Amino acid sequence: MPIPHDPRQHNEPAPEDPTRFWERRYAESPQVWSGKVNPALAELADGITPGRALDLGCGEGGDSVWLATQGWDVTAVDISTVAIARGQAAAAAAGIDPERLHWVAADLTGWSPTSDYDLVSACFLQSPVALDRARILRAAASRIVPGGHLLIVSHAAPPPWASGLTGHDHHRVFFTPQQEIEALDAPEGEWEHLIVETRQRTATGPDGQSGLLDDAVVLLRRN
Ligand SMILES: C[S@@+](CC[C@H](N)C(=O)[O-])C[C@H]1O[C@@H](n2cnc3c(N)ncnc32)[C@H](O)[C@@H]1O
Repeated sequence: MPIPHDPRQHNEPAPEDPTRFWERRYAESPQVWSGKVNPALAELADGITPGRALDLGCGEGGDSVWLATQGWDVTAVDISTVAIARGQAAAAAAGIDPERLHWVAADLTGWSPTSDYDLVSACFLQSPVALDRARILRAAASRIVPGGHLLIVSHAAPPPWASGLTGHDHHRVFFTPQQEIEALDAPEGEWEHLIVETRQRTATGPDGQSGLLDDAVVLLRRN
């Protein structure tokens, strides 16, 4: 029987608690993300008839607020109460009807979707600390109605400026689109694989430098 790895015997720091990590990350600055919708979501949701949407790891709510403005009934979930409070403030500032945008502060590891969805969106649901991402995505995908969509956008590679960052400043796990599909266990008979590709976009780094980022983009439709 393999001997379990004990970090204490290797002088490694204990793994950080995800809630504590993300609460601290958000508390460090008044705004962490741009507040704007992710471009891939804006482009790909544009052709989908609004219904019920679930935003996994919604952060400060840029995507959720945009979805609500497009007529979606949105459930937005994030582990950080600070991020959720910022999302609520952004929604109020945008004049969103609170009945159409439901905020949930919860660790997705222990949270079960409460409804069926026409769209599940996971944009950059990635973390430098523990995250049972595959299980979370599979559980959410199982609640997508026939004809409904699953959109996953993730960092496929570290940013060009990553060598200057410490381990906790950027995500250490990256996914190719094909790895996303394998982790999901979403066979083509049950799902139409509409987009499974890597896309490049220009972004600005922490010191104002410009660079190209690789995103894995996966869009599936349930048969
Ligand atoms: C890289 S951010 C992306 C935020 C947002 N989706 C966006 O695109 O701007 C990852 C988000 O996932 C959240 N998160 C990480 N682990 C989580 C978990 N176990 N349950 C719920 N949310 C989690 C973090 O709090 C953070 O807001």
